[in-house]
Amino acid sequence: MSGNQKLWGGRFEAEVAEWVEAFGASIGFDQKMAKQDLQGSIAHVIMLGETGIITQSEALTIKNGLMDLLAELEEGQLQFDIANEDIHMNMESLLTAKIGPVAGKLHTARSRNDQVATDMHLYLKEQLQYIDKLLLGLRQVLVNLAEAHVETIMPGYTHLQHAQPISFGHHLMAYYQMFTRDSERFAFNLYHTDMSPLGAAALAGTTFPIDRQMTSDLLDFEKPYANSLDAVSDRDFILEFLSNSSILMMHLSRFCEEIINWCSHEYQFVTLSDTFSTGSSIMPQKKNPDMAELIRGKTGRVYGDLMALLTVMKSLPLAYNKDLQEDKEGMFDTVDTVTVSLKIMTGMLETMTVNKDVMSKSTTRDFSNATELADYLAAKGLPFREAHAIVGHLVLECSKKGIFLQDIPLEDYQAQSDLITDDVYQVLDSRNAVARRQSLGGTGFDQVLWQIQKAKENVFH
Ligand code: ARG
Repeated sequence: MSGNQKLWGGRFEAEVAEWVEAFGASIGFDQKMAKQDLQGSIAHVIMLGETGIITQSEALTIKNGLMDLLAELEEGQLQFDIANEDIHMNMESLLTAKIGPVAGKLHTARSRNDQVATDMHLYLKEQLQYIDKLLLGLRQVLVNLAEAHVETIMPGYTHLQHAQPISFGHHLMAYYQMFTRDSERFAFNLYHTDMSPLGAAALAGTTFPIDRQMTSDLLDFEKPYANSLDAVSDRDFILEFLSNSSILMMHLSRFCEEIINWCSHEYQFVTLSDTFSTGSSIMPQKKNPDMAELIRGKTGRVYGDLMALLTVMKSLPLAYNKDLQEDKEGMFDTVDTVTVSLKIMTGMLETMTVNKDVMSKSTTRDFSNATELADYLAAKGLPFREAHAIVGHLVLECSKKGIFLQDIPLEDYQAQSDLITDDVYQVLDSRNAVARRQSLGGTGFDQVLWQIQKAKENVFH
């Protein structure tokens, strides 16, 4: 035996100093994939037995040992050691302690390079399926809420200024559309994750007669990677996950920002449930939308995880490099952040009170009906530009007097344009303004109902 007791210690004469070892170790975080590591090893050893690379009885002994480790893992009994560097070597050493030197045959025709990639694929595949479920739950809550608020009127904004009145249901369905695209992006991400790197070995494949299709099937992957170099060095599936998550978090942060505004004294459009709010240690009256603020804030760390991995991967030559060990913590962090954010968002929306009357009232004393008047004149044949100018002038006059368009007497209207008759007051009503916007995808009630119907038919049948 040489002076180095590591699994790879054969060609070494000296031990690595403890602090250097700690720098290289990943067991502190990659133990999150302990289950996947055992699953990958079980599939690999079944294949080694079936192909006759090792005997069936050796394969069985190893498989049983791995199954025991799996049971112990589930009971929280496994202890990992930093001296064994990562989850792969920790498992091998635990297996050796359990079944003796035959454990050493498990690593035939395999490398930690394809092993770690396999673990990552298995782990992320599971998480993507879970995230899709959470997203579906959020979308369902949005559809339900939108259905209850098709006819709830709120101000629609541009530049954060009252622009035109809209249906609150329509506003919610805009987020539904964003989260649907997020689901679709994650589905494509799953397609790239559902591939087996196992059997690529260190980088070049192996001389042993392995069966990669068999391990791919045993692990329930769609197919094996076609190129061994790509299999061990590809981290696109994680980058896709981080960039899809960044877009999702951006959507959540926009929604949270609106909710934070809506809770303020200035808006009072919604009231968050006590269970999703917190108080202040000094100001007794405070009820803060902390959870929404935190989701907004956590968006930053997900962007950071994406930037970090993009930077790790930049210019990295083929095939495996230890830099790739830096792919894990950001992925785990983003999984945790995205899953908890989705759960909080869903719960917050489900329990939120919508102050319908406040919302719709804020469209009755404003100029968000100015477009209605311009459209009214244009529909009667006036070129839209001229109509725009007339209404602009009227708005100016009104603001000087402190009144609104609906307060102008008919005679004054007719002095401006004889196209205006007493049906104008109907047109200026904000509820009518919303109901009449029946262009495809507009905020008209029937259009909102159509969107909701489509969502129900396609997704929630
Ligand atoms: N802990 C390593 C990682 O996460 C496993 C692969 C190590 N392979 C190697 N050739 N050093 O990437």
